[in-house]
Amino acid sequence: MKLEQIETPAALIDVARMQKNIARMQAHMNTLGVAFRPHVKTTKCIDVVRAQLAAGARGITVSTLKEAEAFFAAGIGDILYAVSMVPSKLPRALALRRQGCDLKLVVDNPNAAAAIAAFGDQHGETFEVWIEVDTDGHRSGIQPEQDTLLEVGRILHENGVKVGGVMTHAGSSYELNTAEALAALAEQERAGCVRAAQRLREAGIACPVVSVGSTPTALAAQQLEGVTEVRAGVYVLFDLVMHNVGVCTLDDIALSVLATVIGHQEDKGWAILDAGWMALSRDRGTSRQSHDFGYGQPCLLNGTLLADYVVSGANQEHGILSAAQANVKANTTAGTSADDITQRFPIGMKLRILPNHACATGAQFPEYHAVAPDGSSAEWKRFYGW
Ligand SMILES: Cc1ncc(COP(=O)(O)O)c(C=O)c1O
Repeated sequence: MKLEQIETPAALIDVARMQKNIARMQAHMNTLGVAFRPHVKTTKCIDVVRAQLAAGARGITVSTLKEAEAFFAAGIGDILYAVSMVPSKLPRALALRRQGCDLKLVVDNPNAAAAIAAFGDQHGETFEVWIEVDTDGHRSGIQPEQDTLLEVGRILHENGVKVGGVMTHAGSSYELNTAEALAALAEQERAGCVRAAQRLREAGIACPVVSVGSTPTALAAQQLEGVTEVRAGVYVLFDLVMHNVGVCTLDDIALSVLATVIGHQEDKGWAILDAGWMALSRDRGTSRQSHDFGYGQPCLLNGTLLADYVVSGANQEHGILSAAQANVKANTTAGTSADDITQRFPIGMKLRILPNHACATGAQFPEYHAVAPDGSSAEWKRFYGW
């Protein structure tokens, strides 16, 4: 199908850009001498993940058991479920392992560790668990020097659970925007996770894997001594938040929302689009960054940026396109005459909107339209739920 024929709103993946992003990350990992385990929550799409594996990725990271089940059914067996395990979800994890899935679990507290050990004992299953380490105070995990690290390690190790490794995610990297600060955080992430592994090993607990990563720290890392693998997710498509962090250009962003101009408010300088927050998502991640892109950056169908315009407002199924110098929060415009807006954006015109956050925008759609360089497109399914 050609772009012009696709019903709007629709999620488009520019396949050439996606392949370039995959190759860039994989080449960096190869140079640093570490394995790469992409986080597939960004796309939840087997076609994308096959491209990542074909480029050299080993195994995948998931954020839901639904992802684990769907990707295992599609033939991928090496899966890290990178969200702390709770006892109620253990039967699904057991079912996956019984089917032959090499599913690894994550914990960051003694209660969950004890529950996994007891459940494994009850069902005759040796689970593999990685301990989550907090290297930047961003979210969950145990700090490398905390006593709890060894406590959790011992509960697992002494009760028939395999301690497969340690893992960390320095998500505070999204708050940075200089190469120096990103490189420093990448080193902090590396050093903290390596230190946690060292403490476990010194306590007699084997800890073969040291797994780190977020897109900004993965790309900024200069050396990864002691690390065995890196995880990253959003790099595969990139987005406006990553552009503001400084790890991609606008031309690297592979996801866009195809939208149609459906009306105007000439006195306000607005063109109305059929892509509101239901299509673009509510994510306003760039509102806290140096460049606020509103609900997204408009481009022509061929990808040419319309840098003077922004999607400044969004209702459920309506987007408001206006001049970029406008105050996006107040939805007011400056300097766009009625003639400009109606002539520049006639009714029926199609645009591509680059998103703030690729994971959130992709999740609004049941499928992607994968657009080849010749403009033809194929449908790539993605899935939902937990
Ligand atoms: C545990 C974990 N690992 C890796 C990632 C990948 O991070 P990014 O999408 O910045 O590459 C995430 C993202 O939230 C995560 O939660």
